[in-house]
Amino acid sequence: MSAHGLAQAQRKMTDGGVHPTAVDVFTRFYGLLESGETGVIPESGVTPLTDVPHLDDLDVDDAAAREALAVTAVVKLNGGLGTSMGMDRAKSLLRVRDDATFLDVIAGQVLAAREATGARLPLVLMNSFRTRDDTLAALAGYPDLLVDGLPLDFVQNREPKLRADDLTPVEWPADPDLEWCPPGHGDLYTALHASGVLDALLDAGFRYATVSNSDNLGASPDARIAGWFAQSGAPFAAEVARRTPADRKGGHLVVRTSDGRIVLRESAQTPAQDADAAGDIDRHRYFNTNNLWLDLRALRAELDRTGGVLDLPLIRNEKTVDPSDKTSTKVVQIESAMGAAIEVFDGSVVLEVDRSRFLPVKTTNDLLVLRSDVYRLEPDHRLAAQVEAPFVDLDDDHFKTIAAFDARVPATPSLAGATSLRVRGDWTFGTGVVVTGDAVLDDPRAPAQVPDGAHVGPDGIA
Ligand code: UTP
Repeated sequence: MSAHGLAQAQRKMTDGGVHPTAVDVFTRFYGLLESGETGVIPESGVTPLTDVPHLDDLDVDDAAAREALAVTAVVKLNGGLGTSMGMDRAKSLLRVRDDATFLDVIAGQVLAAREATGARLPLVLMNSFRTRDDTLAALAGYPDLLVDGLPLDFVQNREPKLRADDLTPVEWPADPDLEWCPPGHGDLYTALHASGVLDALLDAGFRYATVSNSDNLGASPDARIAGWFAQSGAPFAAEVARRTPADRKGGHLVVRTSDGRIVLRESAQTPAQDADAAGDIDRHRYFNTNNLWLDLRALRAELDRTGGVLDLPLIRNEKTVDPSDKTSTKVVQIESAMGAAIEVFDGSVVLEVDRSRFLPVKTTNDLLVLRSDVYRLEPDHRLAAQVEAPFVDLDDDHFKTIAAFDARVPATPSLAGATSLRVRGDWTFGTGVVVTGDAVLDDPRAPAQVPDGAHVGPDGIA
């Protein structure tokens, strides 16, 4: 039945105009999916990653840094839809500071870095078929972003969602768009190549790419890292950061004993009996920030060598065909992660960076902190933390989606004096609210208002 499923999916992709290499990549993953491949990485097969250099300790001379940045392109992953926050369009269109969206801040960071360094720094977004139109319309206000006729974006591939029961392509006549999904950000390599953008960058004299998520405003272009990467001669680098107790359950980097390669181990890839070792943040100290550096020539060579099909691990993502209707048909989405390519390249390296280069917005909790006075937007459009970020935990029932959050937090409270904020129940924030200490708002049992100018602390509203 599933050989039939693969053939149907391939036909659907070909008829839908999907690039043949993307069909080959999908076909390889489909085989892994069918074989029940789990990609488990036991503790006995790895050693901890150690001796990682820190950005602050690097000795990179200014000339080398400038030279490297001059041939670096800025690639931002912008294909995701922010479904965990109930969105169905690019997360980067969200307002993050005053009236500025993520895209405005990214454009500002790139333009400021160009001015400061003289580098051309083309910005190239990887969009998906769902994020492209809105994103380009938003960036139309920045005509200066375009460089030497290079495109401002390329569109990642799309693939059929598969029925969870028989792995055939799902049919959804009510909204046929929902029959398709982007294949995760591991598609970067295929899409960069198949779109012709990889060659266009190489032809225009660019050697390196600094790649990051568009929802991580910490990842602004950095000349010293560019200089370090160029000097290393490595084909691939990942910026990593120290795990904290909050990251205990998350993925981390390990060294595979059999071949000495650095690999990503996601929590789902850890056998149950190794959970303690994997969660030991003193043993496995680093996680992947998804800020990556690519040597574009080395990438081109690896894609040529493999016929465009990199050996990335499979991620099996289980969803419903209509993400907003949890009762709709169960589907499997074949995905892969960009950072997992660290194991594909011979001689990949890592660099430790501070949390300031990792400010992701995965939840409305993150968004609240980023919008608040915990951060200041600097003239070069970087976000500088004014104090240690508080731990925010808003009630999922009333704040999880962006629509619910925006309705209840129309004006961002001051969080600079807070160590944590825990909200339970249906609260709506007034203007000028100041949160301090380990603040708590208990469930009022009925919709309630935090009055304008109120103080919220450990005993609730003061
Ligand atoms: P996330 O893994 O946070 O996914 O993406 P997301 O799609 O934004 O959010 P959820 O899971 O639906 O809530 C990390 C980065 O990778 C990009 C996103 O745009 C984000 O910048 N991404 C993700 C892609 O470019 N393509 C994809 O297929 C998936």
